[in-house]
Amino acid sequence: MMDFTFTPHIMWLLLLALAALVGISLGGSDGPRGVALPFVFDPKATCDPPCKHAGICIRNNTCFCSRGYEGETCQFANCYPKCKNGGECLRPGKCRCPSGFGGKFCHRVVCDAGCWNGGECTAVNGEAKCICPSSWTGSRCQDAICPQGCKNGGICVAPGICSCPDGWIGGACHTAVCKKPCVNGGKCVSPNTCRCRGLFTGPQCEERKKLY
Ligand SMILES: *[C@@H]1O[C@H](CO)[C@@H](O)[C@H](O)[C@H]1NC(C)=O
Repeated sequence: MMDFTFTPHIMWLLLLALAALVGISLGGSDGPRGVALPFVFDPKATCDPPCKHAGICIRNNTCFCSRGYEGETCQFANCYPKCKNGGECLRPGKCRCPSGFGGKFCHRVVCDAGCWNGGECTAVNGEAKCICPSSWTGSRCQDAICPQGCKNGGICVAPGICSCPDGWIGGACHTAVCKKPCVNGGKCVSPNTCRCRGLFTGPQCEERKKLY
């Protein structure tokens, strides 16, 4: 096939000249009809709708497309290799990728917001998703998992690590803190609150109940 590296107009003139030459040589002999051109070229041909993207009208309603385009009126750009994963060929060799895919041919899975904490971007049923390591979760693997749970308003800030509100401590924020310790066997049951045993009372269970 001919390769269009010239501008279409120069090419058009060249083809005309070639057609004329072939016509002359054939006119003078009894040799077989037909031309050596790769297509039948009619300089009076009209194409409606016209050929797009510098395609040449070689016969009525037949376009010869320049490199990188195809289709009846050369309306479609072509991309080789083809755009993958539903990508659209925008112009020769240039794919527009749907969200979730990237790379020159839309062949790469792309998680737009990224995957954190060692998460891996993977196509799941044609959709880009982060596959998270076991101790992280969330669409970007942004949320740590605390298997023990974080109680009393604690927040899981890293795998297995709770950040506890004031007054609570422990791996799951399950232990209350009494700034003044509970005495006489009293138990700190919530921040600065003692539950007293038996005969004791008072904020720290330091008093003996009065017996009447
Ligand atoms: C091409 O179309 C024109 C205009 O419609 C017509 O006059 C001509 O005969 C056609 N040529 C061929 C080869 O059919």
